[in-house]
Amino acid sequence: MATPVADSLRRMTDLAADESPRTDEGADGGDVMEKIVGLCKRRGFIFQSAEIYGGFRSTYDYGPLGVNMLRNVKNTWWRSMVQLRDDVVGLDAAILSPPAVWAASGHLANFTDPLVDCRQCHSRWRADKIDGVCPTCGSTDFTEARAFNLMFKTHAGPLEDEGAVAYLRPETAQGMFINFANVLQTTRKKPPFGIAQVGKSFRNEITPQNFVFRTREFEQMEMEYFVPPDDSPKWYEYWLDQRYRWYLDLGIPADRLRLRHHEAAELAHYSTATADVEFLFPWGWDELEGIANRSDYDLKAHAAASGEKLDFFDPTTNERYVPHVIEPAAGATRTMMAFLLAAYDEDEIGGERRVVLHLHHRLAPYQVAVLPLSKKDTLEPTAREVLGLLQPHFMCDYDLTQSIGKRYRRHDEVGTPWCVTVDFDSLDDRAVTVRDRDTTEQVRVPIDGLLAELQSRAQ
Ligand code: GAP
Repeated sequence: MATPVADSLRRMTDLAADESPRTDEGADGGDVMEKIVGLCKRRGFIFQSAEIYGGFRSTYDYGPLGVNMLRNVKNTWWRSMVQLRDDVVGLDAAILSPPAVWAASGHLANFTDPLVDCRQCHSRWRADKIDGVCPTCGSTDFTEARAFNLMFKTHAGPLEDEGAVAYLRPETAQGMFINFANVLQTTRKKPPFGIAQVGKSFRNEITPQNFVFRTREFEQMEMEYFVPPDDSPKWYEYWLDQRYRWYLDLGIPADRLRLRHHEAAELAHYSTATADVEFLFPWGWDELEGIANRSDYDLKAHAAASGEKLDFFDPTTNERYVPHVIEPAAGATRTMMAFLLAAYDEDEIGGERRVVLHLHHRLAPYQVAVLPLSKKDTLEPTAREVLGLLQPHFMCDYDLTQSIGKRYRRHDEVGTPWCVTVDFDSLDDRAVTVRDRDTTEQVRVPIDGLLAELQSRAQ
């Protein structure tokens, strides 16, 4: 008999496969996808949105562990793109914007996918994703492709007339272009410099696909890097290298990561050169991030449409020019899924099978689990003292229930790199056991030196 949990898992797996023409199998074989979807639901990473109403297609809610991990993905990006640099500043622009922005950017005219209907089963597809064969019924008889604009249109205010039309942004990028002059004036930056933004974007995708890989509501991490026009090829290469390395440094194996340069016919309307960082997903190679040379397309377009000057005057050369833009544009939600897939592993510890996520410590939902060996009250004051010592520095879980072995497994499964066990000896020797997720090695560490020990592991 199907249980509610089994039912909801089946629904999520169905929805994850929703309209997905599967291509060739990647490194892990097909079932790793099902395992990740199951783990995400079971352990509180990702839930189907509006699940109690049967689920709302292509939207997902991030649960207690997922929200930690997604935040970590975004914070790790922000750390490398903004915090550790002196040439990039941040921005948080509005999600709702008027048609003028999207007319100038070219999205009203060009942000379309080719839509076809299958004449046999009447399903709808993106023509460029199905190789001429209907994934539902196998027919090759389709209507002519027509351009379908992917932007979500709404109305701002109580009147639903043309004058009230607004759009949900389909990319965060335009917020950076329309604030170029504001940022230039308030920060006194000069090219080369960047504006970075992390936030939600919305696209009315024809075929949402593969769990959180392609959804209608998602999060992006984008940076617009403004450079003198002649320097743009150099900076394009620089950012290809930087962004590729970011994924490697966070644990994506080199054999599951590649850079793919776009053919001329594939370039977006604003781009003179683009390369994608691609990950080997269970269905094959697919995009994590696009790095584009957007030239001066956007600044010129917004300057022409708004009548505002969007250029830079260089007092050292007495020259005025419109900077060119290199844009690394990544998906936070999609990247989180790639990190989960790359981290997933099954091994054997002491003859027992375990599921483990080898997540980088910066990405794991919890960095530390504090585990009193027993529920007995005598351990609680010391365990709480250890928790209080670590909480200001690490995201911690305090876990009391079930045997210590089961608690280790539970934390292996969600990728917690370090478990700290408080036992009865701790009351006398003021020391605790630190267990490493990947090696399962355990060492005794004095409580006084615990923070320094974990901080040195978390470099
Ligand atoms: N500003 C340029 C831009 O938006 P893009 O390649 O369309 O470029 C950048 O999007 C990244 O955003 C993609 O590489 C992907 O990671 C993420 N992304 C785009 N559409 C998405 C969707 N429907 N669902 C999830 N992530 C998406």
